[in-house]
Amino acid sequence: MSKHSLSSNTPVVADGMTLGVIGAGVMGQTLIRGLIASGVVGADRIWAADKNPSACSKAAETLGVPVETDYGRRVPAADLILICVKPADAPVVLASLRNAGLRRDTLLISILAGVSTDRIESLLGTENPVVRAMPNTPAIVGEGMTVVCAGSSASKIHLDRAERIFEGVGKCLPLDEVHFNAVTALSGSGPGYQFLIMEALADAGVRVGLPRQLALTLVAQTALGAAKMVLDSGRHPAALRDDVTTPAGCTIGGLLMLEDGRIRSVLARAVEEATKIAAQLGASTSKISENSASHRAGSGGGH
Ligand SMILES: NC(=O)c1ccc[n+]([C@@H]2O[C@H](COP(=O)([O-])OP(=O)(O)OC[C@H]3O[C@@H](n4cnc5c(N)ncnc54)[C@H](OP(=O)(O)O)[C@@H]3O)[C@@H](O)[C@H]2O)c1
Repeated sequence: MSKHSLSSNTPVVADGMTLGVIGAGVMGQTLIRGLIASGVVGADRIWAADKNPSACSKAAETLGVPVETDYGRRVPAADLILICVKPADAPVVLASLRNAGLRRDTLLISILAGVSTDRIESLLGTENPVVRAMPNTPAIVGEGMTVVCAGSSASKIHLDRAERIFEGVGKCLPLDEVHFNAVTALSGSGPGYQFLIMEALADAGVRVGLPRQLALTLVAQTALGAAKMVLDSGRHPAALRDDVTTPAGCTIGGLLMLEDGRIRSVLARAVEEATKIAAQLGASTSKISENSASHRAGSGGGH
């Protein structure tokens, strides 16, 4: 029995209605592509919005869905809206949705780093169901990792609809909101750490005489294979590492050098710092909306 079978009769988007994506940037475009490719929602039911007219035309051409700056007239027919702008732009976007005649039952899914469901609900000022999600960029290749949680007016069915959206671009798990800043720091920002580690290992390969492109391929495929072994086997990484660590061999030598460089505490400190920053991103939306809903303070958004 599929984990969605209880509510799988509920379509992700109701018949005759649409799905809107506000913010056709990196994540907005990725999600639209994933929704279309996975067949979760057809291109003919999707529309998107962005701030800059030339960015809209470019996105519309590549995505094959309408992308406009002036999306107000589309809002009343939307059954689901994905908010994919930077956290600092949230107050303006949520006010404009409310003023454009947002239906009371339209599901809003926010992917904003650091912005709580409470905060989104209070900026919106309506009782719409809200789901908060934290995806990551490997969604671009269908290998994203997303967690979702429900706001105060969202039901299990709303959460289930959100999960089906993000499963179109990878894995998705429900999680208590209290963990969201930690998740933002671990899997939201995680691809950045992995890219740095891969770059460093490829440089290491160059140091010992390998051509750069070959070194990068070896490193990336090794990372992919090791990740798949952890996920597929369900074994602890330490046990898998022991399997490849022969007595007096190369691997134990390399591992001890990594431990000498305090790799564990460096990684833990990195995630700790990113968690603190995620919490501050949410606070930035408060300051902006207190000052002025139309104030466009620097985007301050990614993570
Ligand atoms: N990138 C990631 O790895 C990642 C992962 C998880 C979650 N997130 C979250 O996802 C959100 C978007 O991130 P992103 O990397 O996709 O950012 P992005 O590439 O900058 O995309 C945001 C888009 O929204 C547009 N926008 C701004 N104000 C708007 C408005 N009022 N109406 C319509 N569109 C508007 C922006 O236009 P301008 O550029 O012209 O301002 C930009 O094209 C952020 O909140 C971030 O915290 C990102």
